[in-house]
Amino acid sequence: MLLFRGQSLIPDDLIAFSRRLGGLDLAPIQETGRRFVDGMPELYVVSNVMVNGEPIGSLGAGEAVWHTDMSYLPEPPKASLLYALEIPPSGGDTSFVNMYTAFDTLPEDLKARCIGLKVKHDGTYNSGGYVRQGVIPTDDPRQSPGHLHPLVCTHPESGRRMLYLGRRRNAYIDGLDLAESEALLDAIWAHACQPQFCWTNQWRVGDLVMWDNRCTMHRRDPFDNSARRVMHRTQVKGAAPPAA
Ligand code: SIN
Repeated sequence: MLLFRGQSLIPDDLIAFSRRLGGLDLAPIQETGRRFVDGMPELYVVSNVMVNGEPIGSLGAGEAVWHTDMSYLPEPPKASLLYALEIPPSGGDTSFVNMYTAFDTLPEDLKARCIGLKVKHDGTYNSGGYVRQGVIPTDDPRQSPGHLHPLVCTHPESGRRMLYLGRRRNAYIDGLDLAESEALLDAIWAHACQPQFCWTNQWRVGDLVMWDNRCTMHRRDPFDNSARRVMHRTQVKGAAPPAA
Protein backbone atom coordinates (compact mmCIF):
# COMPACT_ATOMS: atom_id res chain seq x y z
CA MET A 1 0.00 0.00 0.00
CA LEU A 2 1.09 3.56 -0.69
CA LEU A 3 0.29 6.78 1.15
CA PHE A 4 0.36 10.15 -0.65
CA ARG A 5 0.00 13.04 1.79
CA GLY A 6 -1.23 16.57 1.08
CA GLN A 7 -3.41 15.89 -1.98
CA SER A 8 -6.25 18.09 -3.16
CA LEU A 9 -8.60 16.03 -5.30
CA ILE A 10 -12.10 16.72 -6.52
CA PRO A 11 -13.99 13.51 -7.42
CA ASP A 12 -13.10 13.87 -11.12
CA ASP A 13 -9.38 13.99 -10.19
CA LEU A 14 -9.62 10.89 -8.02
CA ILE A 15 -11.48 9.01 -10.75
CA ALA A 16 -9.04 10.13 -13.47
CA PHE A 17 -6.00 9.17 -11.38
CA SER A 18 -7.54 5.80 -10.46
CA ARG A 19 -8.23 5.08 -14.15
CA ARG A 20 -4.49 5.19 -14.82
CA LEU A 21 -4.34 1.85 -12.99
CA GLY A 22 -7.11 0.21 -15.04
CA GLY A 23 -10.87 0.25 -15.58
CA LEU A 24 -12.93 1.06 -12.51
CA ASP A 25 -15.52 -1.10 -10.80
CA LEU A 26 -18.85 0.45 -9.90
CA ALA A 27 -19.07 1.27 -6.20
CA PRO A 28 -21.15 -1.03 -3.99
CA ILE A 29 -24.74 0.16 -3.77
CA GLN A 30 -25.86 2.01 -0.63
CA GLU A 31 -28.05 0.22 1.90
CA THR A 32 -30.97 2.34 0.63
CA GLY A 33 -30.43 0.98 -2.90
CA ARG A 34 -29.13 4.29 -4.24
CA ARG A 35 -25.72 5.23 -5.48
CA PHE A 36 -24.13 8.06 -3.58
CA VAL A 37 -23.14 10.50 -6.26
CA ASP A 38 -25.31 11.07 -9.31
CA GLY A 39 -23.30 10.62 -12.50
CA MET A 40 -20.30 9.10 -10.70
CA PRO A 41 -21.15 5.45 -10.14
CA GLU A 42 -17.47 4.60 -9.53
CA LEU A 43 -17.26 6.83 -6.46
CA TYR A 44 -17.93 5.16 -3.09
CA VAL A 45 -18.52 7.61 -0.27
CA VAL A 46 -17.51 6.39 3.20
CA SER A 47 -19.09 8.71 5.75
CA ASN A 48 -21.19 9.01 8.90
CA VAL A 49 -22.58 12.41 7.83
CA MET A 50 -26.36 12.71 7.47
CA VAL A 51 -28.10 15.26 5.23
CA ASN A 52 -31.89 15.61 5.48
CA GLY A 53 -32.04 12.39 7.51
CA GLU A 54 -30.14 10.36 4.89
CA PRO A 55 -26.54 9.18 5.14
CA ILE A 56 -24.32 10.67 2.44
CA GLY A 57 -22.11 7.57 2.58
CA SER A 58 -21.59 4.09 3.98
CA LEU A 59 -20.21 2.42 7.09
CA GLY A 60 -21.40 4.94 9.71
CA ALA A 61 -19.09 5.68 12.68
CA GLY A 62 -18.66 2.17 14.04
CA GLU A 63 -15.83 -0.25 13.52
CA ALA A 64 -15.38 -1.52 9.98
CA VAL A 65 -14.12 -5.05 10.51
CA TRP A 66 -11.17 -6.63 8.67
CA HIS A 67 -11.99 -7.22 5.02
CA THR A 68 -10.87 -7.21 1.42
CA ASP A 69 -13.02 -4.90 -0.69
CA MET A 70 -15.82 -6.63 -2.62
CA SER A 71 -14.32 -10.11 -2.34
CA TYR A 72 -17.87 -11.55 -2.43
CA LEU A 73 -17.80 -10.91 -6.21
CA PRO A 74 -16.41 -13.40 -8.76
CA GLU A 75 -13.77 -10.81 -9.83
CA PRO A 76 -12.98 -8.48 -6.93
CA PRO A 77 -11.12 -5.22 -7.56
CA LYS A 78 -7.33 -5.49 -7.69
CA ALA A 79 -6.79 -2.15 -5.95
CA SER A 80 -8.65 0.51 -4.00
CA LEU A 81 -7.89 4.18 -3.44
CA LEU A 82 -9.22 6.06 -0.41
CA TYR A 83 -9.01 9.84 -0.07
CA ALA A 84 -9.64 11.80 3.15
CA LEU A 85 -11.75 14.96 2.85
CA GLU A 86 -12.83 15.33 6.49
CA ILE A 87 -11.56 13.42 9.51
CA PRO A 88 -12.60 13.29 13.17
CA PRO A 89 -10.24 14.69 15.84
CA SER A 90 -9.59 11.13 17.08
CA GLY A 91 -10.47 7.58 16.05
CA GLY A 92 -11.30 6.37 12.54
CA ASP A 93 -7.74 5.14 11.91
CA THR A 94 -7.43 2.51 9.18
CA SER A 95 -5.14 -0.51 9.56
CA PHE A 96 -3.79 -2.75 6.82
CA VAL A 97 -2.51 -6.31 7.15
CA ASN A 98 -0.02 -7.99 4.85
CA MET A 99 -1.51 -11.26 3.62
CA TYR A 100 1.79 -12.53 2.18
CA THR A 101 3.30 -12.41 5.66
CA ALA A 102 0.15 -13.89 7.15
CA PHE A 103 0.60 -16.90 4.85
CA ASP A 104 4.38 -17.21 5.06
CA THR A 105 4.33 -17.29 8.88
CA LEU A 106 1.51 -19.82 9.28
CA PRO A 107 2.57 -22.88 11.29
CA GLU A 108 3.45 -25.63 8.76
CA ASP A 109 0.56 -27.91 9.75
CA LEU A 110 -1.97 -25.09 9.32
CA LYS A 111 -0.40 -24.05 6.03
CA ALA A 112 -0.70 -27.61 4.71
CA ARG A 113 -4.38 -27.78 5.73
CA CYS A 114 -5.16 -24.53 3.89
CA ILE A 115 -3.75 -25.53 0.51
CA GLY A 116 -6.46 -26.60 -1.94
CA LEU A 117 -9.40 -25.34 0.13
CA LYS A 118 -11.95 -22.80 -1.04
CA VAL A 119 -13.66 -20.25 1.18
CA LYS A 120 -17.07 -18.62 0.76
CA HIS A 121 -16.84 -14.80 0.79
CA ASP A 122 -20.15 -13.63 2.19
CA GLY A 123 -22.15 -10.98 0.38
CA THR A 124 -24.77 -10.42 3.11
CA TYR A 125 -23.09 -7.82 5.33
CA ASN A 126 -20.71 -4.99 4.57
CA SER A 127 -17.75 -4.36 6.87
CA GLY A 128 -19.83 -1.97 9.01
CA GLY A 129 -22.30 -4.82 9.68
CA TYR A 130 -25.05 -3.36 7.44
CA VAL A 131 -27.07 -5.71 5.23
CA ARG A 132 -26.42 -5.17 1.53
CA GLN A 133 -29.27 -3.96 -0.57
CA GLY A 134 -31.56 -6.70 -1.91
CA VAL A 135 -30.12 -9.44 0.34
CA ILE A 136 -32.22 -11.43 2.84
CA PRO A 137 -29.96 -11.62 5.89
CA THR A 138 -28.89 -15.00 7.19
CA ASP A 139 -26.17 -16.03 9.60
CA ASP A 140 -25.89 -19.53 8.16
CA PRO A 141 -22.72 -19.26 6.04
CA ARG A 142 -23.70 -22.32 4.00
CA GLN A 143 -26.87 -20.55 2.78
CA SER A 144 -25.72 -16.96 2.48
CA PRO A 145 -24.98 -15.38 -0.92
CA GLY A 146 -21.35 -14.96 -1.85
CA HIS A 147 -18.57 -16.41 -3.92
CA LEU A 148 -15.99 -19.16 -3.42
CA HIS A 149 -12.31 -18.28 -3.83
CA PRO A 150 -9.19 -20.32 -3.06
CA LEU A 151 -8.10 -19.85 0.55
CA VAL A 152 -4.49 -19.60 -0.59
CA CYS A 153 -4.06 -17.53 -3.75
CA THR A 154 -1.06 -16.73 -5.89
CA HIS A 155 -0.60 -13.07 -6.71
CA PRO A 156 -0.79 -12.75 -10.52
CA GLU A 157 2.06 -10.18 -10.66
CA SER A 158 4.46 -11.07 -7.84
CA GLY A 159 3.89 -14.84 -8.06
CA ARG A 160 3.85 -14.99 -4.25
CA ARG A 161 1.30 -16.95 -2.27
CA MET A 162 -1.00 -15.22 0.21
CA LEU A 163 -4.01 -15.96 2.38
CA TYR A 164 -7.22 -14.70 0.79
CA LEU A 165 -9.79 -14.38 3.57
CA GLY A 166 -12.27 -11.61 2.69
CA ARG A 167 -14.41 -11.27 5.82
CA ARG A 168 -14.79 -13.47 8.88
CA ARG A 169 -18.56 -13.11 9.31
CA ASN A 170 -20.42 -15.84 7.41
CA ALA A 171 -17.20 -17.20 5.92
CA TYR A 172 -17.37 -20.93 5.20
CA ILE A 173 -14.82 -23.44 3.98
CA ASP A 174 -16.45 -25.36 1.21
CA GLY A 175 -16.99 -29.07 1.82
CA LEU A 176 -16.26 -29.07 5.57
CA ASP A 177 -18.91 -29.49 8.20
CA LEU A 178 -19.80 -26.19 9.82
CA ALA A 179 -18.04 -26.79 13.14
CA GLU A 180 -14.83 -27.85 11.38
CA SER A 181 -14.98 -24.85 9.06
CA GLU A 182 -15.51 -22.46 11.99
CA ALA A 183 -12.61 -23.93 13.98
CA LEU A 184 -10.21 -23.78 11.03
CA LEU A 185 -11.25 -20.22 10.13
CA ASP A 186 -10.87 -19.08 13.75
CA ALA A 187 -7.33 -20.48 13.84
CA ILE A 188 -6.38 -18.84 10.53
CA TRP A 189 -7.93 -15.47 11.42
CA ALA A 190 -6.28 -15.43 14.86
CA HIS A 191 -2.95 -15.87 13.12
CA ALA A 192 -3.53 -13.49 10.18
CA CYS A 193 -4.47 -10.31 12.06
CA GLN A 194 -1.61 -10.14 14.53
CA PRO A 195 -0.38 -6.57 15.16
CA GLN A 196 3.14 -7.28 13.85
CA PHE A 197 1.67 -7.91 10.36
CA CYS A 198 -0.23 -4.60 10.37
CA TRP A 199 0.32 -0.93 9.64
CA THR A 200 -2.09 1.84 10.68
CA ASN A 201 -2.77 5.17 9.00
CA GLN A 202 -3.74 8.03 11.31
CA TRP A 203 -5.51 10.07 8.70
CA ARG A 204 -4.77 13.67 7.81
CA VAL A 205 -7.03 15.63 5.48
CA GLY A 206 -5.58 15.25 1.97
CA ASP A 207 -4.22 11.71 2.50
CA LEU A 208 -4.66 9.39 -0.46
CA VAL A 209 -4.06 5.74 0.37
CA MET A 210 -3.85 3.18 -2.40
CA TRP A 211 -3.63 -0.53 -1.72
CA ASP A 212 -3.33 -3.82 -3.53
CA ASN A 213 -6.64 -5.39 -2.60
CA ARG A 214 -5.41 -8.92 -3.41
CA CYS A 215 -2.65 -9.20 -0.81
CA THR A 216 -3.95 -6.93 1.98
CA MET A 217 -6.97 -6.64 4.24
CA HIS A 218 -7.99 -3.49 6.10
CA ARG A 219 -10.17 -2.40 9.01
CA ARG A 220 -11.24 0.92 10.51
CA ASP A 221 -11.49 1.98 14.14
CA PRO A 222 -14.78 3.44 15.37
CA PHE A 223 -15.01 7.17 16.10
CA ASP A 224 -17.34 9.64 17.81
CA ASN A 225 -20.47 9.93 15.69
CA SER A 226 -20.88 13.60 16.55
CA ALA A 227 -17.69 14.28 14.54
CA ARG A 228 -17.65 14.26 10.74
CA ARG A 229 -15.64 11.84 8.62
CA VAL A 230 -15.88 11.98 4.81
CA MET A 231 -13.79 9.77 2.52
CA HIS A 232 -13.99 9.02 -1.20
CA ARG A 233 -13.03 5.62 -2.55
CA THR A 234 -12.54 4.13 -6.00
CA GLN A 235 -11.90 0.51 -6.90
CA VAL A 236 -9.80 -0.73 -9.84
CA LYS A 237 -11.03 -3.81 -11.71
CA GLY A 238 -9.16 -7.07 -11.32
CA ALA A 239 -7.82 -8.66 -14.50
CA ALA A 240 -8.84 -12.18 -13.45
CA PRO A 241 -10.51 -13.97 -10.53
CA PRO A 242 -8.27 -14.79 -7.55
CA ALA A 243 -6.53 -18.08 -8.37
CA ALA A 244 -4.54 -20.71 -6.49
C1 SIN B 1 -13.09 0.87 3.49
O1 SIN B 1 -13.29 -0.18 4.06
O2 SIN B 1 -12.84 0.92 2.29
C2 SIN B 1 -13.15 2.16 4.28
C3 SIN B 1 -12.10 2.21 5.33
C4 SIN B 1 -12.17 3.50 6.11
O3 SIN B 1 -13.25 4.05 6.32
O4 SIN B 1 -11.12 3.95 6.54
